[in-house]
Amino acid sequence: MKSVPISAHETADQLVQDILASFIRLANEAIDASGVFRVSLSGGSTPKRLYQEIAASNLDFSRIQWFWGDERNVPCDHVDSNFRMVNDALLKPAKIAAANVFPVPVCVEDPAAAAMNYENIIRRQFGAAENSAKSNQQPSDFPRWDLVLLGLGDDAHTASLFPETAALEVSDRWFVENWVEKFAAFRYTLTAPAINSGREIWFLISGSGKREAVGRIMANERDFRRYPSQLIRPTRFFVTSDALPEGHRV
Ligand code: 6PG
Repeated sequence: MKSVPISAHETADQLVQDILASFIRLANEAIDASGVFRVSLSGGSTPKRLYQEIAASNLDFSRIQWFWGDERNVPCDHVDSNFRMVNDALLKPAKIAAANVFPVPVCVEDPAAAAMNYENIIRRQFGAAENSAKSNQQPSDFPRWDLVLLGLGDDAHTASLFPETAALEVSDRWFVENWVEKFAAFRYTLTAPAINSGREIWFLISGSGKREAVGRIMANERDFRRYPSQLIRPTRFFVTSDALPEGHRV
């Protein structure tokens, strides 16, 4: 894997403060340059702490659009819902306008339809005309996120790209439903190309439980079906030092 900057910190608090500062810088740059900052959010415990800090920042929330990189197949008020987590940590406390919030329109009974629906919602925000003007799928025909935030599971999944699942093989869609056998449930997820099209792609990782998975992402040996995060081309790692394997300590 090409060398990617690693920002390592002793504590999760320091980590979150560093991510927050970087987030604010990037958002302000994007807003100055184009008037809007489009971010794809992750579920998970480290991102949640970041969202609470973002809520207390003085960012211009009228210029930021929030999307979900993955979601669980549950109603939006369910305790497992990623929307609910972000809503509680960020959207409600910061009083963010609904017009800037693009949650997955979960349909528990028909996840395939809901995933297609969400893909089209994202497509519209990124300019459908751009896509319909093309007759075949181009590498550029993926969402140009200003930032994609990603967590990392201890099984090396990211977003809801889990080991040995069908979504890992998809290259012609932005967002799909994904059956995850170990949960006997559908998840929803951005596909790998629709993550890799981001300008900035950050992994937010904390805790020694992630060390082996971090080692798998950084290893030369590739097996994306077992270690789905290997499909991702991150631009930056934010990690606690205890999550870094020997040989990668900075
Ligand atoms: C989810 C995710 C998932 C998550 C990782 C890490 O909805 O579960 O988006 O990819 O980010 O599992 O989660 P933790 O930070 O809680 O370990």
